Amino acid sequence: MKIINGKETALTIRLELKEKVDKLKVSGNDVPGLVTILVGDNPASEVYVSSKIKACSEIGIRSKAEKLSSDTSEKELLNLVQKYNEDKNYHGILVQLPLPGHINEDKVIEAISPQKDVDGFHPISIGNLVIGKDTFVSCTPAGIHELFKRYNIETKGKHVVVVGRSNIVGKPIANIMLQKKAYANSIVTVCHSAAKELSYYTKQADILIAAMGSPEFIKGDMVKEGVVVIDVGINRIEDPTKPKGYRLVGDVAYDQVAPKSAFITPVPGGVGPMTIAMLLQNTYKAYLKINGMN
Ligand code: GUN
Repeated sequence: MKIINGKETALTIRLELKEKVDKLKVSGNDVPGLVTILVGDNPASEVYVSSKIKACSEIGIRSKAEKLSSDTSEKELLNLVQKYNEDKNYHGILVQLPLPGHINEDKVIEAISPQKDVDGFHPISIGNLVIGKDTFVSCTPAGIHELFKRYNIETKGKHVVVVGRSNIVGKPIANIMLQKKAYANSIVTVCHSAAKELSYYTKQADILIAAMGSPEFIKGDMVKEGVVVIDVGINRIEDPTKPKGYRLVGDVAYDQVAPKSAFITPVPGGVGPMTIAMLLQNTYKAYLKINGMN
């Protein structure tokens, strides 16, 4: 069993990007810029956004954190997005989800210029992914694909079973793994909560991607020997023995599944850190594209 160390891989990617940004500076160029837009005061979203801003500053990406009150109107938010669509200092726009209930998320996502869609949530980005064109791919699935590359995991002709069908993870990772390209070219099954017997599918997986958001749902008897396990879940469960009163677990019962796995991502320290690394990579890519440097 080999542990896929996403924390270490993400750090490597961040250092590679830092070198690229340093080179831009040395040659007198502007640097990439990212604006994050947070509406309301969801504590988890605040933590995510501040980690993104911190990661930008560590590698020399200019960043700006827009924070709007929870009673911001949809129109005000759309106007702000439009302002950054036109602002040449910012190459990436990230609107942190979820948005308050009175704002239509789809409308806001569609307002972001596809050129600056570093989250890869715009229907144009998703459409391009499905038809195999170069595009912005949402950060968590892009991070999973990067882990396959960096750990040289054979995926061609393998049966990838994705559990979960979210727009952010399940659907895009299924589409990536279906592409006829390196570290993809897989046979893909997507399962979800309507499956009568989930283990019928998960037992067939050469590569299992768990992204349904149910703590420790995938048990040892639901996978075959030698499986590659990618655990996308980040669930808080109460634990009075911990200083914070909770601990983080994935969607996979790690202690049961790890001994049967060829490779497995831990939680925390697996897929999670890759998400931010991919956001930085997408921001750098947006900068290159907007400046005709790619
Ligand atoms: N909310 C949870 N994950 C994400 C993400 O990757 N991007 C944005 N914008 N919001 C999120």
